[in-house]
Amino acid sequence: MLDLLLAQTTPLAPAAVPLPVFDAAYFAALVSRVIHTTCGATLLGGIVYLWWVAAPRAAGGDLYSGGRRAWAGCVGACTGLLILSGAYNFWVIYTGNQKLPPLYHALFGAKFLLALAVFALAALLAGKTSLAARMQAKSRFWLNITLAALLAIFVLGAVLKSIPHIPKPAASAATVMAPLDAPHLASYA
Ligand code: HEM
Repeated sequence: MLDLLLAQTTPLAPAAVPLPVFDAAYFAALVSRVIHTTCGATLLGGIVYLWWVAAPRAAGGDLYSGGRRAWAGCVGACTGLLILSGAYNFWVIYTGNQKLPPLYHALFGAKFLLALAVFALAALLAGKTSLAARMQAKSRFWLNITLAALLAIFVLGAVLKSIPHIPKPAASAATVMAPLDAPHLASYA
């Protein structure tokens, strides 16, 4: 009985933990985010494999042991999906939140430009033009640059996410990128 009274009067009673509203906008943003991160991880993993495993064994020769075409297809698919999902993520964040600080836009611009460079480098490292063949002959050098740019993109992605996104009052649940700040969240309590 005393416990019950104390529980009802204590000012430090834990607040209800909010949950997102699981509507269509939530799932669209979720799918887009999963596509974005998995395609980014696929490119990073492929480049790390080439840098760490394939390039040292190729010694300026065929980097792919006959599998170049397959990797080129993977690079193309990941590039397309990263652009589509990244543009959608940006639209959801830009339209669903209050004005983001200039730092956010500067970092997003740097991430976008680095991403364009990575798309071009990864395509050339998997390509069959004469320029691509010359770059593949110096694969260690170009893989170093591609890997550094990819790692910088991952750091920038994490920093962008750490900048608070404050949802507009009527924002939809698509602001899944910053779920804990969102005022429209349902509570399960
Ligand atoms: C090599 C290409 C790219 C890689 C590896 C990459 C990787 C990432 C990663 C790891 C995140 C953090 C995801 C999370 O924690 O949920 C992220 C976030 C994001 N990316 Fe990309 N990305 C790439 C290209 C792009 C492009 C081309 C666009 C735009 C068209 C874009 C737009 C975004 C947006 C809007 C976010 C969310 C930032 C935020 O949380 O405020 N990305 N990206």
